[in-house]
Amino acid sequence: MCGIVGTIGNPDTTNILLSGLQKLSYRGYDSAGIYVNDQKGHDYLVKKSGKLANLEKYITPEMQGMVGLGHTRWATHGEPSDANAHPFKSYDGRYYMIHNGVIDNYQQLRDKYLQGIPLTSQTDSEIIVQMIAKFAHDDHLTTKDALVKTLKLLDGSYSIIMVDSKDPEKLYVAKNQTPLLIGIANGFTLVSSDVLAMIHYTNKFIEMRDKEIGILTADTQTIEDYDGNVINVKPKTIKLDANAADKGAYPYYMLKEIDEEPVVIRRLLTNYLNQNGEPQFDATLIQRFAQIDHLYIVAAGTSYHAGLVGKAFFEQWANIPTSVLLASEAGYHMPLLSAKPGFLFLSQSGETADSRLVLSEINQQNMLSLTMTNVANSTLAREATFSLDLLAGPEIAVASTKAYTAQIALEAIFAKALGIANNITTAKEFPLKQQLSEVANGMQTLVDQKDKIKQLAHDYFADHQNAFYIGRGQDYYVSLEAALKLKEISYIHAEGFAAGELKHGTIALIEKGTPVVGFVTDPETALPMRSNVEEVIARGAHTLTIAAKSLADDTDAVIIPDVATLLTPLLSVVPAQLLAYYASLERGLNVDQPRNLAKSVTVQ
Ligand code: G6P
Repeated sequence: MCGIVGTIGNPDTTNILLSGLQKLSYRGYDSAGIYVNDQKGHDYLVKKSGKLANLEKYITPEMQGMVGLGHTRWATHGEPSDANAHPFKSYDGRYYMIHNGVIDNYQQLRDKYLQGIPLTSQTDSEIIVQMIAKFAHDDHLTTKDALVKTLKLLDGSYSIIMVDSKDPEKLYVAKNQTPLLIGIANGFTLVSSDVLAMIHYTNKFIEMRDKEIGILTADTQTIEDYDGNVINVKPKTIKLDANAADKGAYPYYMLKEIDEEPVVIRRLLTNYLNQNGEPQFDATLIQRFAQIDHLYIVAAGTSYHAGLVGKAFFEQWANIPTSVLLASEAGYHMPLLSAKPGFLFLSQSGETADSRLVLSEINQQNMLSLTMTNVANSTLAREATFSLDLLAGPEIAVASTKAYTAQIALEAIFAKALGIANNITTAKEFPLKQQLSEVANGMQTLVDQKDKIKQLAHDYFADHQNAFYIGRGQDYYVSLEAALKLKEISYIHAEGFAAGELKHGTIALIEKGTPVVGFVTDPETALPMRSNVEEVIARGAHTLTIAAKSLADDTDAVIIPDVATLLTPLLSVVPAQLLAYYASLERGLNVDQPRNLAKSVTVQ
């Protein structure tokens, strides 16, 4: 979490940093700060709690520089406050530094090396810059040597950007377990946690690897390991439409991203199906995964919910028993594995620390893995045996929407490929291309019903602090995701339930007017599902049903087009996403940046 950006060599440094922080705000937004130095003896440090807009109020015209760094924070150690905001200044006033990550041994390091040094914050991060200053001073080390000495002592994750105000012709950077990329622009250099913060200036990037430092000037980028060996890395060109991350005329990214869902499904079809409409993937990927005896899907949050939906594809089309594991649990409590396991990591960001822990453990045991992610060069993509791109385009709103549906669609295409490889009739006969095309069309009709769903959000959620979502089978998994969306952005307490399970306890919470959203998309369970809806109506619930067309009756509030039962989550989630969106708007909240959350969770 936290977004960091730095630049050297451009007189417009302040604006580059502020616009970069704007792009990085999805990574955290409880405080922000910048440091700029004009390389002629003037420098400026401003850091404020609250969103970036608050920081901007304190930026004055003279705060210009040729080198600088900026940080947007998601608090781990120490509350959001001006003092805990980055950048941090060393006690002697020489060094300015920003950090993304968590230093696990910061208390031990503080006690051992920083006795007598006045600390200004409650963060784990500040000790880094204080140690660098201390080593530079006490041990007469160069800045680079003091930095490396400090890095070697750190346990934990970090991306660091630092300026030595005595020598502002250089920018120092270092990385371990959190992302950091260097951007090579025309006459100046950038560095950030995400290409999005730099793509307006360049598409040429160096991806830093763990335990490397970089010494950057306006026109040079030197990468070394901690022993001082220079590493020659070839910059990569990353293709990303700079405007893809812009909101355009939309009030919030989330609405734009919901609207993009049909396009993303069509893009996946174009990219992962051949001319005959059959899946096309790397032959070795399919060959290796077709041989596994159990698939373990590992994910967090919304991606975990996409994994739950995908389980049925792998079991029914590819005949592969599948378990879906919460990454944060699997890292410490791995179930007993089968003889020939394969792992599928689902992650929008490709950086989720919980998932990375699992991947590094299974890599140590040489087990087979595949990452499906929306960030092609992310850590989970690089470190897995194989990776596939979700092709959803940048997702900026913290609440994930189009990445969720892209994950489900890509799981379906991949599962069908495995089924065909294993000669399974259900996979061979399933008309996936036609079905996913209908899904894309159906999504379009649903996103076009915004006015109706806005009204429903008003009618059902305006006055309530509790809501339930119920369903069976795939509809249960959608219920979990629908409830998460509502919680995340409207702060209404919501729970997703297997509809039959509600009466075993939780039904006690239903009272007059409690909103209950029911999903009815499976012919096999439509009858018991309708009974479950009646049970809550009998106890006063205000029910809203989302039903498949062929199962609908005139009490249903939203009708979704008919598609194969296994694929219905791709459609039924769309009105649920819109309900959450309008419930959040209705409450006057910041839809894209809900409190306490961040999009890329790089801490465990
Ligand atoms: C955070 C985000 C969620 C996301 C989850 C997993 O909690 O707020 O939207 O689903 O992380 O992230 P990933 O990038 O691994 O899909």
